[in-house]
Amino acid sequence: MAEPINVHYSASGKSFTAVAINTAAKAGEWIKSKLGAYTSLNQKTSPGDLVTEIDKGSEKLIKNLIMTHFPEHSFLGEEGVEPGPLASAQALENVKDADYLWIVDPIDGTTNFVHGFPFFSVSIALAFKGEVIVGVVYDPSRDELFVAEKGKGAYLRGKPIHVSPEPVLAESLFATGFPIDPVTALPTNMRGLTAVLPKVRNIRNGGSAALHLAYVAAGRLSGFWEINLNAWDLAAGSLLVQEAGGKVTDTAGQPYHLGVRNVAATNGHVHQEFIDVLKEADAVGL
Ligand code: IPD
Ligand code: CA
Ligand code: CA
Repeated sequence: MAEPINVHYSASGKSFTAVAINTAAKAGEWIKSKLGAYTSLNQKTSPGDLVTEIDKGSEKLIKNLIMTHFPEHSFLGEEGVEPGPLASAQALENVKDADYLWIVDPIDGTTNFVHGFPFFSVSIALAFKGEVIVGVVYDPSRDELFVAEKGKGAYLRGKPIHVSPEPVLAESLFATGFPIDPVTALPTNMRGLTAVLPKVRNIRNGGSAALHLAYVAAGRLSGFWEINLNAWDLAAGSLLVQEAGGKVTDTAGQPYHLGVRNVAATNGHVHQEFIDVLKEADAVGL
């Protein structure tokens, strides 16, 4: 795919990707060292929407490192934004046209982190004029760091990764997430679950959207969808999937952009079949 005009992957000799990788690795190691050792647990909007001092500490560490290297860049991190979808959408709106914008989820999978369930990640993306050009997702539990650069492929441990080859839903393994909003998003997701489950091999919910996307990129999942996510859940993982040869759209099949909240990411082969199932079940959520 052609690179956007005037996009750079480094400044003053410092590679954006190298900084993203180093930062994700440092934050991830720190988070792992704090597993089971958080001291402050707070609810944001509900008992299913949690934050610890480790989420905040991780974001501070990430922001400090990135801003030290690139002080002129913009930064959007989950813990710097008020809880709830409206505040998230507004925060994105305020910065989305910045030349260089770092989009960060300091712990994706806080519920897992709190319960000691080893499936959580650090997600760091860099967008240039609204288009993601670098995406890194790090899973400290397995020491797996997934990296993508726009137009240059997706990698795990230095080796290229590719989406899975399943040609039809019947041979597919999918993942989803259960949204916390019980009024709109959860019922929509449950309609989707009921419709999709009989059509696929099975469905998982690991509890980290960013890591689910990395797993689609690595060919470990055929697809992933979820209703009502935020830019920081999706930015890095969406580039991983695309660079690994997959397809990322909203749940209606429209192209991915930073404002997408209802996401569908697949190996590409099963994408249309999957979107059709969601549409037929009134589970698109748009
Ligand atoms: C959550 C995780 C989870 C998804 C939720 C997200 P957080 O992010 O990605 O898998 O189901 O919708 O909010 O709050 O742990 O950063
Ligand atoms: Ca998240
Ligand atoms: Ca988070």
